[in-house]
Amino acid sequence: MGMERTLVLFKPDAVQRRLVGRLLGRFEDKGLRIAAMKLIRVTPELSRQHYAEHVEKPFYSDLEEFITAGPVVALIADGPEAISVVRAMLGSTNGREAPLGTIRGDFGLSRQMNLVHGSDGPEAAAREIEIYFKPEEILGDEPTLGGWVCADDEK
Ligand code: RTP
Ligand code: MG
Repeated sequence: MGMERTLVLFKPDAVQRRLVGRLLGRFEDKGLRIAAMKLIRVTPELSRQHYAEHVEKPFYSDLEEFITAGPVVALIADGPEAISVVRAMLGSTNGREAPLGTIRGDFGLSRQMNLVHGSDGPEAAAREIEIYFKPEEILGDEPTLGGWVCADDEK
């Protein structure tokens, strides 16, 4: 257990479908803290860096075309066990298979256009945060209500 940071992207389909506010609301509702956030365009170079593990896969060119097709919202969410908590909130990759109650299960019908990215482990989170954010863009302010989100021994 412990406090973790994870990299979240609202992918181009989420932005184009005007779902940013509702998706952000789900992260806020959960009690996660937004430590950094910006609207950016993913370039092909950034896509290759982010999805390095997939660059050689047959679906990579479609993935790059999709992720670079429009603006994305990049953010860092933090909280107790934030990495696995966010992955659970997303549901499985394919929106047709993701359980109802998850973001992909509630909003999606696609494997590619699955709305939100979340880092899949501590190494990926550290690597991806560094790719998307400079240290000075990450604001570490303790929220006023932070003490009501979890007990001290859960942090
Ligand atoms: P993400 O990295 O975006 O959070 O998604 P994920 O962990 O659930 O899935 P991952 O296996 O990392 O795949 C990254 C993205 O590539 C697309 N994909 N297409 N055609 C295919 O077989 C296939 N498999 C994956 C999806 O857009 C997926 O989110
Ligand atoms: Mg992944």
